[in-house]
Amino acid sequence: MRSLRPADRSAAAVRPLRGKLTSTRRDFIRGIAAAGASTAGVVAMERSGAYLFAEQALARGARNSFSDFTAIAASSEDVLEVAPGFRAEVLISWGDIFRGGDRRALRYGFNNDFLAYFPLRGSREGLLFVNHEYPDPFFLHGYKAAGGPKNAAQVQEEQDSVGNSILHVRRRRNGLWRVISPSPYNRRIYGDRPDLEFTGPLAGAPGIGTSAHGSIGNCSGGVTPWGTAVSCEENFDDYGLPVAADVSDQYGWVQFGGDPADVEYDPERFKKYGWVCEHDPYDPDYVGRKHTALGRFRHENAAFRHEPGKRFVLYMGDDRNNEGVYKFVSDRRFRPRRGSDNRRLLESGQLYIARWEPEGRRRFAAPGDTTPITATEGTGTWEPVPEEALDDTATKLREAIGDAEFDLHYATNRPEDLEVAEDGSVFIALTNNTSVNDSHGAVRRLRERRNDPEALEFRWRDYAAGGPTGSADPGTQGFSSPDNLVFDKAGNLWVVTDISTSRLNLPNEYAFHKNNAMFMVPTSGPNRGVAFRFANGPVECELTGPYFTPDERTLFVNVQHPGEQTGASETAPGIFGQEVTYTSWWPEGNKTAGENPSTPKPSTVAIMRAGDVREDHD
Ligand code: FEO
Ligand code: CA
Ligand code: CA
Repeated sequence: MRSLRPADRSAAAVRPLRGKLTSTRRDFIRGIAAAGASTAGVVAMERSGAYLFAEQALARGARNSFSDFTAIAASSEDVLEVAPGFRAEVLISWGDIFRGGDRRALRYGFNNDFLAYFPLRGSREGLLFVNHEYPDPFFLHGYKAAGGPKNAAQVQEEQDSVGNSILHVRRRRNGLWRVISPSPYNRRIYGDRPDLEFTGPLAGAPGIGTSAHGSIGNCSGGVTPWGTAVSCEENFDDYGLPVAADVSDQYGWVQFGGDPADVEYDPERFKKYGWVCEHDPYDPDYVGRKHTALGRFRHENAAFRHEPGKRFVLYMGDDRNNEGVYKFVSDRRFRPRRGSDNRRLLESGQLYIARWEPEGRRRFAAPGDTTPITATEGTGTWEPVPEEALDDTATKLREAIGDAEFDLHYATNRPEDLEVAEDGSVFIALTNNTSVNDSHGAVRRLRERRNDPEALEFRWRDYAAGGPTGSADPGTQGFSSPDNLVFDKAGNLWVVTDISTSRLNLPNEYAFHKNNAMFMVPTSGPNRGVAFRFANGPVECELTGPYFTPDERTLFVNVQHPGEQTGASETAPGIFGQEVTYTSWWPEGNKTAGENPSTPKPSTVAIMRAGDVREDHD
């Protein structure tokens, strides 16, 4: 097929470098009083909430469309709410049809998580790379937990609903986005097809082989500096497990699948899943890769760092209670003008796991506590992972290191996204960990020794703590369970939350939070560390994958699993086909308002300044 890449690919695909952070003040977690005082000191209060004046952005002339907004109060309503003056428009929802160059119908998948924008024409036209993390058997075909054997058609429907989507999108003259269809860029990767090729030291090894059918558990991901997408296979071992009573996320693809190839999902016998995958959205013929050098664990995402003259580095978390944070140092350096050479960067190098001092986990005396009984700063070292541990990394490391040492010095509170700030420090969303009473999680900042990406020593400090702040201002009452992170050009950190939907809107420690939400946390200036609530998701969703266009006039975000509790167990309220019984009706209805009972649909949304959209249609 002809090349579809834009003329200046490296410039188009690389997120612009941002200005240096100016502040040198030490990081700290803002306590209850500090958050309130700091907010009051620099923020002009309005009745509707806190008016956030992002002076950092203005000072550097890097003000973007999202730099200042009126923070909003928590909400339990079945709506996607954004700060006043912004507008959120659904671009595409689960089940929507879009077409490839051959005009064949493609269905948008379920539970969209990671997304990234790959420019074709700047910020007006590009490709969205989207992960579809996991299926919901109830919404797909009416299946509830322990509903007996699935048939082959049901398993196939689940396999068709996950993987990745590549969408060609364009911003119209009226300011709204739409999917271009048909387009030769549009395509899907599914849970069982096409085949992806293994690279790296374990390619061809027993249980791994040279290729895998499709990709599963694609949670978050990243954009490489050479313009490809990486997608991280997270909860890979759910698919081969048998369906079971009151467990909604064991899919039984092995036990009840109709295709003999489905045996490859069995995590006891095969190691085809649980890897970091790489795809080229610009090239419809690209064969996806699974990189064995990056280890096999519950990969959440990958955050890249390259410094001139230094080897290429990426950071990753293992999203499971009491698991670790990893760094991969490539054998090679990234060279911006060597496109095809760079594609080997993830194939060979050394994987390390972080060893934390005095310990890695924030422990609390009781669930819901917001003051840890452990240190909130310390030091650490990067310990090499032997090649023989790459195929089952967390399990083999724990065995080799021993439970006591691993839990004390390697375990963390379930790392979700990691992001590299413009100053080279690494922000880590440690979402929560019931086993150490950490209900609310924190964002931790890691600085390499001498700011050297190849360093084997680092310092760390917990930067922003989850939990209620005690602030009287409804826009700054705190976040819980941070998940995906993204920086804007002004250096603000955007955080989405993932409180388990089984715990939301109940009289528990999460009551203050109401629905899952999106926050903006300035990383410098007088508001540093304060979380300002920008958006509220609808009922039982999490917001995922926030990503700005290069001009930062559009913020794409996914709404994942609205109405998740509808069919989550045998006793869940949903009756298949009776929408009135579903726990969310978003986006076509609003259960809180009793409007238009309908099936909740995971959807991709574009958020813009309302003034950037004209009502007249072109
Ligand atoms: Fe799929 Fe780590 O959340
Ligand atoms: Ca996640
Ligand atoms: Ca999560």
